[in-house]
Amino acid sequence: MAELGHDVVGLDVDAAKVAMLAAGQAPFHEAGLPELLNKHVAAGRLRFTTDAAQIRQAQIFFIGVGTPQLPGRLGADMSYVDDAVATVLANSNATAEQPALIAGKSTVPVGTAQRIAETCNASGKHLLVAWNPEFLREGHAVHDTLHPDRLVYGLPEDEAQGRQAKALLDECYASVLAEGTPLVVANYPTAELVKVAANSFLATKISFINAMAELCDATDGDVTRLAEAIGYDERIGSKFLQAGIGFGGGCLPKDIRAFMARAGELGVDEALTFLREVDAINLRRRDHAVSLTESALGGSLVGRKIAVLGITFKPDTDDLRDSPALDIASRLRERGAELAVIDPAAGAELRRRRPELAVPDTVTDALQDADAVLLLTPWREYLSLDPVALRPLVRQPIIIDGRNVLDPHQWSDAGWTYYGMGRGVSVW
Ligand code: UDX
Repeated sequence: MAELGHDVVGLDVDAAKVAMLAAGQAPFHEAGLPELLNKHVAAGRLRFTTDAAQIRQAQIFFIGVGTPQLPGRLGADMSYVDDAVATVLANSNATAEQPALIAGKSTVPVGTAQRIAETCNASGKHLLVAWNPEFLREGHAVHDTLHPDRLVYGLPEDEAQGRQAKALLDECYASVLAEGTPLVVANYPTAELVKVAANSFLATKISFINAMAELCDATDGDVTRLAEAIGYDERIGSKFLQAGIGFGGGCLPKDIRAFMARAGELGVDEALTFLREVDAINLRRRDHAVSLTESALGGSLVGRKIAVLGITFKPDTDDLRDSPALDIASRLRERGAELAVIDPAAGAELRRRRPELAVPDTVTDALQDADAVLLLTPWREYLSLDPVALRPLVRQPIIIDGRNVLDPHQWSDAGWTYYGMGRGVSVW
């Protein structure tokens, strides 16, 4: 927002994060973000605080707090959103002549914006509400925010309020709209549903190709060729058809579960029964990776040394939330294997959170005397590893490519036994 030309105050309850951000340091790994933080903190256009009084003058209050999965339930924890709204209500200086806008960014159960709008209307506080979901991908957050592929506004049904809310958002996104970014204007429930529908579709696409991987495993087919071939059909498209150990992260898994929970509350759970299957296929990928490793090692993992390359839920982030790689590594260890895990971004965090996992500094150290090597997160630096040079390091040349990103022939030719995910052995 500062890069788009606005004066921004970031309010959070986490004093340690606020202190880091105020010093121009990003509390997580995201390419391009430290540069932007430094630039705008130094220019005074961007401030961070735990003091809610600092937000009084704001014209727009973006709410971007988490909505994590409730422990032991499918639904989302809405307490952070509700606390943020209460903070805005208690602090906004908005007047009838100059109303302010709450613009929701968090991914929420459909019906939330209406509930918040009713609270605001009842408060007599001159606060409008819009829902303005974001679609950024971790690892591409800066680009996706400055150049989104679409903007979505969920506006109040009251026409006058809707016009005022739209004008504030249009002003805020003026430079993005000037680039020709498509804008979809809708009511609250549509805007809320757009976000979960998009993530459900992406999750479904990944589970679809992983289901095809199961079929390929049963028939010696090659899911990478299959994905390539169906991807040439423009109606299908080639993106998000990478079969492997499945999706993870802070969004896709919990969003499809919260969506199912909300559908149940709305009495339309049948409409989303398929998402249960999407989730089940996804979790089965992790079981498959564990049993494949076990059978590649002759049936037992006890005392076997396993090197894991990549532990984050995807490359270019240090995010370990619901990481399939971390889940698989943990399960292999529970079954008696000795793990050496390496990751370009999450090594330090992993050492702190999982002291039981060895986290060496180099790929060479990780592979030393390994009985099997698992590539679980396709970081760029692991795609170009040289199987010939690595061969002498390991005790047994077994490579399990959890993301189907290595060249099976190159690894086989170097003396390795290669296992992909639904990638039958073929000369083609
Ligand atoms: C996702 C959505 O893409 C984004 O639009 C939304 O705003 C937030 O949620 P993100 O969580 O950053 O973004 O990750 P994404 O790039 O979607 O990947 C999710 C998971 O799917 C990762 O674990 C990734 O490895 C996996 N994946 C992705 C596959 O297994 N196969 C694929 O073909 C693509």
